[in-house]
Amino acid sequence: MTSRMPADVALRVPGIVYGADYNPEQWPEGVWAEDMRLMRVAGVNMLSVGVFSWALLEPAEGRYDFSRMDRILDMLHGNGIAANLATPTAAPPAWFFRAYPDALPVDRDGRTLSFGSRQTFCPSSPAYRQAALRIVETVADRYATHPALVMWHVHNEYGCHNAACYCDTSAAAFRTWLRVRYDNDLDRFNEAWGTSVWSQRYYSWDEILPPRATGADPNPMHRLDWKRFCSDELLSLYTAEREVLRRVAPDIPATTNFMVMRTIDALDYWRWAPHVDIVSNDHYVLADDPEAEVDIALSGDLVRSLGGGRPWLLMEHSTGAVNWQHVNRAKRPGEMYRNALAHVAHGADGIAFFQWRAAGIGAEQWHSAMLPHAGTDSQIWHDVVRLGTDLRALAEIRGSTGAARVAVVWDWDARWALELPSQPSGKLRYQDLVRDWYAPLWRAGIAVDFIRADDDLNDYRLVLVPSLYLVDDTAAANLTTYAEGGGTLAVGFHSGAVDENCHVRLGGYPGAFREVLGVRTDELFPLLPGRTVALAGDVPQGATASLWSERVRLIQAEAVVTFADGDLAGVPAVTRRGHGEGAAWYLATRPEPAALRHLLDRICREAGVHPEQPAAAGIEMVRRRGADADYLFLIDHAGGGGEVAANGVELLTGKPIEGFVVVPPGGAAVVREPR
Ligand code: GLA
Repeated sequence: MTSRMPADVALRVPGIVYGADYNPEQWPEGVWAEDMRLMRVAGVNMLSVGVFSWALLEPAEGRYDFSRMDRILDMLHGNGIAANLATPTAAPPAWFFRAYPDALPVDRDGRTLSFGSRQTFCPSSPAYRQAALRIVETVADRYATHPALVMWHVHNEYGCHNAACYCDTSAAAFRTWLRVRYDNDLDRFNEAWGTSVWSQRYYSWDEILPPRATGADPNPMHRLDWKRFCSDELLSLYTAEREVLRRVAPDIPATTNFMVMRTIDALDYWRWAPHVDIVSNDHYVLADDPEAEVDIALSGDLVRSLGGGRPWLLMEHSTGAVNWQHVNRAKRPGEMYRNALAHVAHGADGIAFFQWRAAGIGAEQWHSAMLPHAGTDSQIWHDVVRLGTDLRALAEIRGSTGAARVAVVWDWDARWALELPSQPSGKLRYQDLVRDWYAPLWRAGIAVDFIRADDDLNDYRLVLVPSLYLVDDTAAANLTTYAEGGGTLAVGFHSGAVDENCHVRLGGYPGAFREVLGVRTDELFPLLPGRTVALAGDVPQGATASLWSERVRLIQAEAVVTFADGDLAGVPAVTRRGHGEGAAWYLATRPEPAALRHLLDRICREAGVHPEQPAAAGIEMVRRRGADADYLFLIDHAGGGGEVAANGVELLTGKPIEGFVVVPPGGAAVVREPR
């Protein structure tokens, strides 16, 4: 992959980064020395500090108290621990809102939210921006040359709680954004938004409001442009902070922790990633996810891809339970270790937790940490120390990356549009659709990059498009050219349906991909919840599909699978059109996992993509590619352990490997394979 990132600004921490959010301000200073001692035991080498410290750093407007932060940074430096110093702008203090009540956010129903937690501010508030940039500059001026400082942690999880504000200030900012997007041309704007429907024509920009609660289904473009605006609005806050930091401390890299996980979809990270020096991500497993390891792998590949293939940092995950799910389950024996190594396998050069010491007070007092409430006589502490030891043994993998021949298209615009109200089915979930296709590849040990639909595709033998409801002409042409030029392309149902303005592509579905796929659908038949439809053809006996079906007609393609019962019995469900060396596939339904795996096996085989070696069941197999060696990660999620063919040196034990490596039950092995 080509990098879209700015010039390299190196992170001055050797080996694999290991650490956490550190919030010593929550503890008496007498505890700090013990923290340092235990951090050395665990092998901690970098900490995020000051993430929510605004109220302590600036006790009153323009009055600063750096004494505590001075002591914290000096202490870290004295103990050889690097500081990833946060700008504290995710939690403005109480005095700020008292002075600037207009900076409080307003929700979709018109309620003004109150001070009382964090990230409760209007992203478009001039008062917030001014106060934020002032504290950023003040902090940067003070600490730019502090020897502990190695990175700026800008804000925290933009969009986690403050993705959208519906106040009048935000409305004005939204209008400004729209005027830029539509070249100040109100007719063009009305055309794009399709405002001839339901008497929605706007005669003045000033008539446009945020998509506040309204009586019936909203105009999809109102919602979609709002999502785009909200992502850009937060991005402009990030870049404003970044500019201050770059001016004051040009050699210190900056990051902000992304959240490429299932529940948050506020930001278009393709637009954000070029603005960070090092991509970092937070990942939390969801208690009801039966296969969280797939989510971790997918998120890791996506984060690595956002950085153009470069290694990234896991800025937060948890040692055990979190505090914000309905029921917060503890991690199973060895799960934290496997989670962490899986992030590394997918490109992380650093592993950090929220947080160092489990809080005794406040909203997160029941969130796990590296050092639990129970202290060092605990399983979690034991596991934390062991992980630190093993990460040290992996120091040489730093900087290595992935090497994929398969690309999966990922697009936030398409995701947002797919999940808007008024779709043929309200059950379409973008991440589920992508994960459906990703999981069998993951199981087969086939490496994947995520790409944008308009990226250069030449490096890939196979391009998968699990879901691309919205696509513009350029991206559609790019995918078409790829398939026509002999690449193998596979496209999921309801893709290519609308353009970037959510206008249906007329003449039959799947709109933009009709030609390249050689099919034409005249009507969509989404399936009711719980309904399945039988499949026949090149799928396992008795296979079914759910969620979606279409009346597909073959134009220049063959049917590989057909619907075998229901309203569409005999209609093609999966089609293939040969294009010279390659082929273009259409999956017009959601096959059950075994059937999808079977189809993807065939698609991969035909594209010349094979699992590099058969892995034992339940053992994740991933390679990172270094300058003169590959690093084979084997992680046993199933608990049975196993033997895998390999040669080289197993880094966690330091033992030479000839012929095969033993993966301990529930554990991991990492083999340096010379090239
Ligand atoms: C988020 C935040 C952290 C912490 C964790 C808890 O990721 O960034 O400050 O609240 O959640 O899981």
